[in-house]
Amino acid sequence: MIRCVILGYGFLGRRLAKELALNRVEGVKLVGIASSKGHIYREKGFKSSELPEDITRASDFREGSSLELVDGRLADLLVELTPTNIRDGEPGLSHIRRALEEGMDVVTANKGPMALAYEELTGLAEERGVMLLYEATVGGGMPLISLQKRCLMADELLEIRGILNGTTNYILSRMHFEGMTFDLALREAQMLGIAERDPSLDINGIDTALKIVILANSLMNARRKLSDVKVKGIRKVTSEAVAAAKESGMAIKLIGTASEEELSVAPRLIKLGDPLCIHGTLNAVNFKLRILGNLTIIGEGAGESTVSALLNDIREVARARSG
Ligand SMILES: NC(=O)c1ccc[n+]([C@@H]2O[C@H](COP(=O)([O-])OP(=O)(O)OC[C@H]3O[C@@H](n4cnc5c(N)ncnc54)[C@H](OP(=O)(O)O)[C@@H]3O)[C@@H](O)[C@H]2O)c1
Repeated sequence: MIRCVILGYGFLGRRLAKELALNRVEGVKLVGIASSKGHIYREKGFKSSELPEDITRASDFREGSSLELVDGRLADLLVELTPTNIRDGEPGLSHIRRALEEGMDVVTANKGPMALAYEELTGLAEERGVMLLYEATVGGGMPLISLQKRCLMADELLEIRGILNGTTNYILSRMHFEGMTFDLALREAQMLGIAERDPSLDINGIDTALKIVILANSLMNARRKLSDVKVKGIRKVTSEAVAAAKESGMAIKLIGTASEEELSVAPRLIKLGDPLCIHGTLNAVNFKLRILGNLTIIGEGAGESTVSALLNDIREVARARSG
């Protein structure tokens, strides 16, 4: 039985814990959960009825660092779900690094460590003979990394282009269909909980840039850093520009691009019939391959759908470890 711990008991952590406690992945038992304040560890595993809403209120809650769940050979698999930090990747980077050093497999949705330290972490995983899976870092539940690694490896991936941020796509869609100004569309997105109170990482294109770096490094062996991406956000997109694009049969979309020549994020004109021209909070990613040609995946790029990618990665670990 694989013993799994979750670090980060927020939106994704809670939902994933529920699925694991319901034994959705055969051969995997949830034994530990950590928040920033401390953790609970139950060797026998959690039943779904035993999952606390707030772990600090559990009778067996222990104050202390999350690393205590990673250090003591208490678990075999770490699922890292702490907040994305683009400055230094912490605390997720230390969690993942330590788990790999301890010989644990790791599954994560945390973009920070994977965008900032991709080479180090994948190198460490290889050196220790453990798995590091991160499908959930890009495109929510959409299979992008596993799709390419399973089904498209023999072909040559020439370019990745896509809408990788649902918040900015929602704002641009409201500007396109309702003629809203940027500020009004942003306020509406915040009221609906689609945009965060501080939406700067989304609006400035940094969230998309992190995802482009992860895709380029992982699918194109690019060895790039966040600073290699030319980034322009959507803050300066005017309702006049959106209306003019619409009149010419186009829409303005925030597009992330990765190719041998460039890594970029910028608002671009996309033809209304183009498969990438999707609206609302949807994401879409186009792989351009030498033999296959174009392949576009469309789906919810964040939210609950992300749990699907996490569960698949966990299942992948269980399959590999069951021999
Ligand atoms: N939500 C999505 O749709 C989505 C999609 C793809 C990727 N992601 C990424 O997945 C990760 C988790 O997302 P989320 O939406 O679940 O975030 P979230 O709701 O903010 O949850 C993260 C949790 O981590 C806890 N935390 C902070 N420092 C910690 C530490 N040192 N040890 C243990 N826990 C700590 C925080 O709670 P306390 O401070 O109270 O402990 C918080 O509840 C993020 O990196 C996010 O960017 C999210």
